[in-house]
Amino acid sequence: MNRRKLVVGNWKMNGLRAQLGEIEAIGALATDHPAAEIGLCVPATLIGAADAIKGAAFIGAQDCHMKDNGAHTGCLSAAMLAEAGASWTIIGHSERREDQGETDADVAAKALAAQAAGLKVILCVGESLSVRDAGDAENVVSAQLLASLPEGAAADWLAIAYEPIWAIGTGRIPTMEQVAAMHGALRSALESCIGSEAGAMRILYGGSMNGENAAELMAVPDVDGGLVGGASLTAAKFAPVIAAAG
Ligand code: 13P
Repeated sequence: MNRRKLVVGNWKMNGLRAQLGEIEAIGALATDHPAAEIGLCVPATLIGAADAIKGAAFIGAQDCHMKDNGAHTGCLSAAMLAEAGASWTIIGHSERREDQGETDADVAAKALAAQAAGLKVILCVGESLSVRDAGDAENVVSAQLLASLPEGAAADWLAIAYEPIWAIGTGRIPTMEQVAAMHGALRSALESCIGSEAGAMRILYGGSMNGENAAELMAVPDVDGGLVGGASLTAAKFAPVIAAAG
């Protein structure tokens, strides 16, 4: 199965209008690398301005509410994000699962809300260090994926991101054998749920991916791209990651 590589920057709570030049430069990098699909998930406050200068990159959000509207002070619906210029959103990042107590059921509901508003979704899963050390990571993350997977999950609107929590922002990454084992396990879990559609669904790696390790990580079987935090904050740092994707 030939899956187009997907490389997405997650700016988390970083970025003011002063950084619009970086977004424009990253959009230009995407234009220069059409073989891969490149995106940038920016703070919601920057979506509109980023959409105007995005080049061949897509602009995404980092979360959405599961409801269409209502009394949810401070929250944003998927339709609001789509109207602002987002075409994708991240859902279920471990920082939200931890900081905001999001459950697998919340994640599945948010993914469905996003799809209903026309957003594509990057659904995040990943294990803690204690689970990794206990030797149970593939089982735990596969179960998390199946519990978070929305009804009607299909490769044309959903991608998975495997992000080991202990690798996020730490400079530590799993061994290539561990990455291969996890991505293979997640592909099998998807097959058990959505059958042959699993072969088309992209599974990204995230957690301290950078210009030095991106090519090796993306060469691992079943690694279909990356979800990149710190190394996506400037065009200079993101450029070698994008180049590694083709
Ligand atoms: P870092 O690339 O900064 O480790 O962040 C990974 C991440 O959480 C992307 O969603």
